[in-house]
Amino acid sequence: MISKLLRVKPMSMLTHEAGEQGEHTLKRSLGAVNLVTLGIGAVIGAGIFVLTGQAAALYAGPAVALSFVLAGITCAFAGLCYAEFASIIPIAGSAYTYGYATLGEFVAWIIGWDLVLEYAFGASTVASGWSGYFNSLMQQFGVHIPPQLTASTGTQLVFYQNQWGPVMSLPPGVSDAGLPHVTAAFNLVAMAIVMVITVILVIGIKESANFNSAIVFIKLSVVAIFLVVGGYFLIRHPDLARTNWHPFVPPKDAAGNFGWGGISKGASRIFFAYIGFDAVSTAAQEAKKPQRDMPIGILGSLLICTILYILVSLVLTGLVSYTRLNVGAPVALGIDATGVSWGSLLVKIGAVFGLATVMLVMLLGQTRVFYSMSKDGLLWKWASAIHPKFRTPWITTIVFGIFAALFPAFLPIGRLADLVNIGTLLAFTIVCAGVWVLRVRHPELHRPFKTPLVPLVPILGMGSAIFLMSRLAAITWEVMIGWLILGLIIYFGYSMGHSKVQKLAKAQVAD
Ligand code: ALA
Repeated sequence: MISKLLRVKPMSMLTHEAGEQGEHTLKRSLGAVNLVTLGIGAVIGAGIFVLTGQAAALYAGPAVALSFVLAGITCAFAGLCYAEFASIIPIAGSAYTYGYATLGEFVAWIIGWDLVLEYAFGASTVASGWSGYFNSLMQQFGVHIPPQLTASTGTQLVFYQNQWGPVMSLPPGVSDAGLPHVTAAFNLVAMAIVMVITVILVIGIKESANFNSAIVFIKLSVVAIFLVVGGYFLIRHPDLARTNWHPFVPPKDAAGNFGWGGISKGASRIFFAYIGFDAVSTAAQEAKKPQRDMPIGILGSLLICTILYILVSLVLTGLVSYTRLNVGAPVALGIDATGVSWGSLLVKIGAVFGLATVMLVMLLGQTRVFYSMSKDGLLWKWASAIHPKFRTPWITTIVFGIFAALFPAFLPIGRLADLVNIGTLLAFTIVCAGVWVLRVRHPELHRPFKTPLVPLVPILGMGSAIFLMSRLAAITWEVMIGWLILGLIIYFGYSMGHSKVQKLAKAQVAD
């Protein structure tokens, strides 16, 4: 039994699959630039556009910039490990595939199942953030979607200055008493955008990648404009920055937020902002030169995003007091503070397009992981059925599209983000362990990219990921454990008996 659980997928089988061509395989159409763009497309999203404000207001104050440093370091360790794996094993499937090749089928199953938390729930989280910016943009144009359908179930909305928004977004000193109120029924807007993205993905990867590149450009431009306009304003008004950045690390409160501990709590929330660079690895089977380009895609996108995040969080907390940043569109609020009238419109448009690409990459990653798991016999055959015309795993795309559309309808963004974070941090921990194990078990493998200082970097990667997980709330842990138990039931009930690797091993013994 134990030996079955530890059975690894032979490297020969992986390499053979990577080389497979033909009608029923995925197209190899992505180059290095496509991959870096794919990474940035996945990474810059609701984390920086929405959660930065929340983390500053609730946990860390201006020191949220340090939260970004902490989370960025954690990702760098994991990114280095991902890059080594992706360069050796250029197969769709991400951490799942790497785990299968090194730590055995059981651990691989856990990772694959856990990645649903990252990708599918990630798309849900971003859809929730997207709806905030989209609603705000529509209202700016005078289009009022019925407010009951614009936020997760139970959110209290008030009508203020010709806009519907969450009660907590009211400026200090403004009371909600006397303002029109509604309680949101469910977030139809978030559901609708997930369905649109699903249709794009069913139509095809090439089209999706081109769409992605154009939008990543818009997203980066918006971030750059925010930094230039906001940074210039702060240089001209140093007193404002001095006031807002003071104290840079606000004193710890009774609930244990702020202070030095608040920085790590903030990091465990804004960690979400970094998620996605690993989604590059799920596209390995669609990369033209995976050995060379995967590490470039992963590390390049991570580096660019880290620098931008630290700068954005510094400029944002310099422009607006952190106490006012717990709103749906904090970056738009920040640019408003500069008095540049077109700024907030531009930021909202950028966020609406930019967040759409994040959902695209998340759902793409999700379907590719399930595709791989199904090809391995660990999931039902429909999950790897390729559409004859579009050549995409269309059934699994649609199933996950519906799944990812449901959650933001009912759950608030912070709750979803934490769940995604814990799932991703667990995957990081296992990937870091996997790199180390593979170095010991298969030192002979050709590694086009080598993680430096093994085992130090994997150990630091595991340690920092576990530390950030420990900063998340008990409820987040409980949901993750429940999810993993459900996964175990499916593994022992179905996957183990249908696994191709197990069948191969059995046939070899019989020979
Ligand atoms: N990192 C992505 C975001 O912030 C998931 O939206």
